[in-house]
Amino acid sequence: MIPQATLSKLRSIVGKENFLDSPEDKISYSYDGTPLLKQLPDGIAIPRSVEHIAQILKLANEDGFAVVPRGSGSGLSGGSVPVENSIVLLMNQWNRILEIDRQNLAVWVEPGVITATLHEATEALGFLYPPDPGSSTICTIGGNVAENAGGLRGLKYGVTKNYVLGLEVVLPNGDIVMTGGKSVKDVAGYNLKDWLVGSEGTLGVITRVLLKLIPKPEASKTMLVFYDKLSDSAETVSDIIASKITPAALEFLDNTTIKCVEDYAHLGLPTTIQSLLLIEVDGRPSVVEEDAAKIIELCKKHNAREVRVAANAQEALKLRTARKAAFSALARVRPTTILEDATVPRSEVAPMLERIESIASKYNLTFGNFGHAGDGNLHPTCLTDERDTAEIHRAEKAFDEIFTEAVKMGGTITGEHGVGLAKMRFLEKSAGDVAIDMMRRIKQSLDPNGILNPGKIFSLKPRCEGPMPKNQEQVKKFLEMGAFT
Ligand code: LAC
Ligand code: ZN
Repeated sequence: MIPQATLSKLRSIVGKENFLDSPEDKISYSYDGTPLLKQLPDGIAIPRSVEHIAQILKLANEDGFAVVPRGSGSGLSGGSVPVENSIVLLMNQWNRILEIDRQNLAVWVEPGVITATLHEATEALGFLYPPDPGSSTICTIGGNVAENAGGLRGLKYGVTKNYVLGLEVVLPNGDIVMTGGKSVKDVAGYNLKDWLVGSEGTLGVITRVLLKLIPKPEASKTMLVFYDKLSDSAETVSDIIASKITPAALEFLDNTTIKCVEDYAHLGLPTTIQSLLLIEVDGRPSVVEEDAAKIIELCKKHNAREVRVAANAQEALKLRTARKAAFSALARVRPTTILEDATVPRSEVAPMLERIESIASKYNLTFGNFGHAGDGNLHPTCLTDERDTAEIHRAEKAFDEIFTEAVKMGGTITGEHGVGLAKMRFLEKSAGDVAIDMMRRIKQSLDPNGILNPGKIFSLKPRCEGPMPKNQEQVKKFLEMGAFT
């Protein structure tokens, strides 16, 4: 527990109205979107200025407590779950769009801006901010940058890191750094900005973000394609990519997910189909027409039962929204939903889906599968119940095998959700000692006392030399910790 004297100092930094520590508040901020992970914080600080953040981090070093930055708390790897002896640093009220620079195709935002709000504001002016995570209506840009979030348009447009031009960050010692800027080219020194993107709140607190915009495509076309065989849809995906067409989105849902989405969104989807692809092409009108025609031909070649083309932008939005609701729709079936993002090279999507199915049946588990098929970024989702410890244990084993398979196929344990707490033990197995040691050295050089979101991504195992983290007990606990304990 953080001593009362330290909590008083925190109150006097941010003002007592901006420091929450009622039992209800602590419970509200004890978890994020990740199942099975919870820890009460000792308080929640809402900073009102960059200086507040710097003072809080300096105090954390002096008094020895941990600080866990948080946006909306919609993360899926436990990145914003508090740790022992910590406060939550709540950034979601920093939600202003500061500047839209039409000449430089750039936008300055505060980290608490909701991603969908940025989409609306920039699209109204004829721009596009492409990263489009499933949670776009609730997640924040700061969280997207911290996790290097992906989303539905990753295939053609890339992910968050491809759009971060600059960052203002408070480092763990309280120093404020500005990296990057509006220059399209900038090779002056180490690329610090890219080390911070995806650092999951462990290297700095993001206080301002400069993002790149692109011109909004003139036209787009969205289609839903139904299949009686999952393998036919997977082959369509490979064939589209091999035909050198790059759709903006190439998403897949299996039968379990389709049934849940239909139940939730009432789109009139046939629930007997085994697989569905949501395909979106965008660009100049003539290219969109040409690409859509080629795609429809390929879908038919691979035995599509039906291709439904959205009649207008409103209908397209409805289809995309239903796809984004896949996680919420699956989460209604059983009390606990473990959603993962095992990712493989695109050519391996079909074999990976087969492996997931056979692993699920080996462990007698119910899985729904969906994801960004065009990216190879799959979301195997186990529908379970945390009160059934035997089933949770089987789920743990199943995911262990799924991640092992993904890595064997040349893939990765996470394509877009981050490592956080949930996948620490898998990262340690898959990244190799040298890479993990490099990550630890970076962390320890910036945060020698282990105060900023410690014990996330990798354990803070002290190196032979160098300072020992202050949070020794916590470090030990995380060392022993698996993803599901
Ligand atoms: C999605 C989230 C779960 O793709 O990543 O919907
Ligand atoms: Zn996703």
